[in-house]
Amino acid sequence: MQLPYAEPYKIKMVESLTKSSYGQRYQWIKDAKYNLINLKSSQIFLDLLTDSGTGAMSDKQWAEMMTGDESYAGSRSYFQLKDVAKQIFGIPYFIPVHQGRAAEHVLFSTLLKAGDIVPGNMHFVTTKEHITLNNATAIDCTINSACDITNQNIFKGNIDLEKLESLFKSNDNIPLVILTITCNSIGGLPVSMQNIQETSSLCKKYHCPLYFDAARFAENAYFIKKYEKGFEKKTICEIVKEMFSHVEGFMLSGKKNGIVNMGGLIGLRSETIFKNASVNTVRYEGYITYGGLSGRDLSALAQGLLESTEYDYLESRVEQVAYLGNRLKQYHIPLLEPFGGHAIFINAGEFYHHIPQTEYRGQFLNSNIYLEGGIRGVGIDGLSNNRDPDTGKEVYPPMELVRLALPTRVYTNSHMDYIAATVANVFEKRHESKRGLKLVKDTKLLRSFMAELEPTDQNT
Ligand code: F0G
Repeated sequence: MQLPYAEPYKIKMVESLTKSSYGQRYQWIKDAKYNLINLKSSQIFLDLLTDSGTGAMSDKQWAEMMTGDESYAGSRSYFQLKDVAKQIFGIPYFIPVHQGRAAEHVLFSTLLKAGDIVPGNMHFVTTKEHITLNNATAIDCTINSACDITNQNIFKGNIDLEKLESLFKSNDNIPLVILTITCNSIGGLPVSMQNIQETSSLCKKYHCPLYFDAARFAENAYFIKKYEKGFEKKTICEIVKEMFSHVEGFMLSGKKNGIVNMGGLIGLRSETIFKNASVNTVRYEGYITYGGLSGRDLSALAQGLLESTEYDYLESRVEQVAYLGNRLKQYHIPLLEPFGGHAIFINAGEFYHHIPQTEYRGQFLNSNIYLEGGIRGVGIDGLSNNRDPDTGKEVYPPMELVRLALPTRVYTNSHMDYIAATVANVFEKRHESKRGLKLVKDTKLLRSFMAELEPTDQNT
């Protein structure tokens, strides 16, 4: 018999979770204006809001926290992280920053100018925002099948090379191309090594540097090992090295695959860009040997990067996501498939197909999952975008979803069973809800964080 995966760690310290009654949650969600970002963490049983900065550090990482060097300049922790980054990514220059969007801030203010175009595979929201802040435009070149829910291709994060080449042919203001690995906006699905290599060759043909948004680089490497021909026998470290050999640099939020609560990195091959980016780092983040982080954070990130490139860890991480997906499937919950590396996405549009799209089906499903079992995910629907500036109309994403992101090494498979049963109960009762949510207070920007809602039909 093939043995199942099992976590390559045991639990040394536990944190209590608070259970609550339906009545309490009903009051709390009303107080939170049906916007789950406003809940207190003490009002939540299982928090699947994000996998970012919510993971559990290992005993070795905690040991690093104790021995980190807090010198302002030239800290030993900086050199420790530098050595690990060089060993893992094979890229000579690096700058620590406090998180992923800080890397975007520093790098884009160094590389972009007004009117530039930055192609990529569905840039993450903060990436897009930082491109826009520099008066440049992010253009999506993802393969067409990325949003086709009937397509089972695992490498849905791939870039469409024809789309990219036609952009190169018609524009001479493309300072960089960004590949997001794995692609969060497409369900945490990976980019294949072949696509990385071909995108890199195309970029070289047009003398344009290719960069990674590498927040979930290790999960991407695991998918390559598992699904891409020719990589089955390679180690994760070999695959990561090969992936990064195709890029000029990267931005990395350490809060995901770095398994730290705060931290990030910029990696660069060019000494000139490193020097220019260093100036912006000092402006925005702090001196280049700490980049907005404590010395102990640098050391914990160094250790976290080593751990996240271990096969056994990655297998338990990605297979736990699939475990949850398969449990939900047993209850016939409509999901995005194949399953990605950090989260399961429920198709809220299909779940509540009898409720109008204007009634925020993502937020509504997220609210009902919370009411049922005290679980918080993220609703993705019309509220996730700013309104069209010309018409004032809502801009709907390609699919309305609820993302259940799994913090790293935090929850057990009994929690996964509990999550699946909770969603199954909501699914069972889906026809009792005739209406969704309506806006009580809207805002211009960051609507999903600031908006206030209430049930359209108060009886739901
Ligand atoms: N790039 C990707 C692909 C991300 O998923 C994120 C964050 C960032 C960049 C920004 O990194 O948060 O460290 O500033 N994603 C989180 C999420 C917030 O919940 O998916 P950050």
